[in-house]
Amino acid sequence: MPGCMKTSDPEPTDNKKFVIGFSQVGSESDWRIANTKSMTETFSNDPEYEFVMENARQKQENQFASVRRFILDGVDLILIAPTVEEGWQTVLQEVHDAGIPVIIMDRSVAVWDNNLYLTNIGSNFLGQGKKAADWLAKETSDDEQVNILHLQGTIGATAQIMRTKALEDAVKEHSNWVISSQLYGDFTEAKAYEVMTDYLKENSDIDVLYSENDNMTFGAMRAFDEAGITYGKGGRVKIITFDATKEALQYCMDGKVDLCVECNPLFGPQIKELIQQYRNGEQIPKQVYVDEQVFESKDLDRDFIDKREY
Ligand code: AHR
Repeated sequence: MPGCMKTSDPEPTDNKKFVIGFSQVGSESDWRIANTKSMTETFSNDPEYEFVMENARQKQENQFASVRRFILDGVDLILIAPTVEEGWQTVLQEVHDAGIPVIIMDRSVAVWDNNLYLTNIGSNFLGQGKKAADWLAKETSDDEQVNILHLQGTIGATAQIMRTKALEDAVKEHSNWVISSQLYGDFTEAKAYEVMTDYLKENSDIDVLYSENDNMTFGAMRAFDEAGITYGKGGRVKIITFDATKEALQYCMDGKVDLCVECNPLFGPQIKELIQQYRNGEQIPKQVYVDEQVFESKDLDRDFIDKREY
């Protein structure tokens, strides 16, 4: 019947779809979930593309297996959000030899031949850490010792390496700043809660918590609450957190978190644009940084938080 279309009509079998294999880090954080959503919404709703995502559950060997499967399947392009920077040379060489282009997203890879990928798009993690350190310099006096407790994400991930470097560099420049301890939180709330709970049994002399992502911050806040340690405006510990998810911004507006450094996960559309440019034979930049800012309580209001997409 004219105008009537069965919902079960088969999809047009135009085999010209551009097939993307995507190896995602995992689902360790709210940031990651927002990033996966941005990627799937961008590509799954576009009939020009077939988008195959595999979740590596934070294990690099799972990523290697996915990438090798994508090669065997003959995908048109491989997207990788690498868990850690090291160890990619061999598998990227295999992709290169198979003639498949690669885009590295979110974090980076440490390979000696950067012709093994088209571009690297994601955050300027060092810049994020520097913004945090600059803020702390303004908020503290040079005359008093500042004890910083440092919660680290997955060791070897660009987000961890660069945020840590920014802090360690700043500590070298401020003789009164001390990193009292570096605890391993793996970017997850559960791990951060566990290590913080343990740490607070013996230690309480903390002026600043520098937490490399929001989910670890949430775990730390729970541990502080249980240990009776106050934080935020009017509290004992200043909290600096990375990502600026909706929940963290809410805490910041309420005065429980002092600084949210934004890490923008919503770059699916930007990746699609880069792929489009590549397919059109245009030159694409080797490194693309996404736009990001920092937030204090005074920068936030209800309307802004309600509209926040992640
Ligand atoms: O690589 C981005 C980082 O990884 C985000 O800060 C964190 O939340 C995520 O797990």
